[in-house]
Amino acid sequence: MTKSITITRPDDWHLHLRDGDMLRAVLPETARDFGRAIIMPNLVPPVVTSKDAAAYRDRIMAALPTVTSFKPLMTLYLTERTDPADVAAAFEDGLIHAVKYYPAGATTNSDSGVSNIKNVMQVLEKMSEIGLNLCIHGEVTNPEIDIFDREAVFIDTILDPLRSELPDLRITSEHITTKQGVDYVKSADQNLGASITTHHLIINRNHILAGGIKPHYYCLPVAKREEHRLALRAAATSGDARFFLGTDSAPHTDANKLLPCGCAGCFTATNTLSCLAHVFEEDGALDQLEKFASLNGPAHYRLAPNADTITLQKENSAVIYPKSIATADGDVTVFDPGFDLRWRVA
Ligand code: NCD
Ligand code: ZN
Repeated sequence: MTKSITITRPDDWHLHLRDGDMLRAVLPETARDFGRAIIMPNLVPPVVTSKDAAAYRDRIMAALPTVTSFKPLMTLYLTERTDPADVAAAFEDGLIHAVKYYPAGATTNSDSGVSNIKNVMQVLEKMSEIGLNLCIHGEVTNPEIDIFDREAVFIDTILDPLRSELPDLRITSEHITTKQGVDYVKSADQNLGASITTHHLIINRNHILAGGIKPHYYCLPVAKREEHRLALRAAATSGDARFFLGTDSAPHTDANKLLPCGCAGCFTATNTLSCLAHVFEEDGALDQLEKFASLNGPAHYRLAPNADTITLQKENSAVIYPKSIATADGDVTVFDPGFDLRWRVA
């Protein structure tokens, strides 16, 4: 039986770090084991301009533990007023690695997002021309569309037409949650990849809704039926270069999660790599973990993999993680996979 594996240091291609006290509390949970992360720009107010991104990057760097090589990869929040020239300059400076497309109203802090894709075509054309990646939260917001169908409808009505119009635009279909998402990405021969979260490999909608409502499993896109979870597992563990890790670790205080209208987001930064080793081992695919967590993402973003490695070690007894992380704003509950974790980063 494998007791330890050594892999290229992983990266997280979708991470929420927030700001201020929350940033200081959650950043070490990612910086401990990850080399880099794509930093989501959905702050309040959002990170819209290159100036905002530079200032946010500086606040992240100031909050980092002293002994770390962690590098935040910044993004800009796409609005209908985004200036293509500002985006291009930020990319040329090496400041940003992606622009984030939130359909207005789709998720946490997305009000400044895109209402009509026609209003951002000039930015997308510029991005296509310069090779800058578009990260997409792929859910329609039409209240008539069932929340469990919003990803599939987005693919048909927004993503596929966009790819036909701008075939050279590099796109990350973020945190895909459906078989349709997996199949669509597999049907693309170029310029499309998808991130998959840790929690969507582990939970389905029963975990949220059966036997009492579990707010800590509520995130967006919401977890779907078991058949979709299995499709995500197959994609992640296949080694297919189009699929890579984006944890979407999204901290909210317990006070904000446990409300009559609670916030969406699962906080997985603390135990993500243990969860992933468990999942990949269970599927007989430990040898594919490095591709999913450390190699496919950099290839999609046209970056070199990290130069160093981490070792994951399997213990004889359960590894105990904190139930929550304390922040000055209140506790943030760590994702509970619902099974014992035996793998840990050595
Ligand atoms: C994210 C957040 O809290 O910022 N929440 C979530 O459920 N994933 C936003 C997002 O990525 O949709
Ligand atoms: Zn997210």
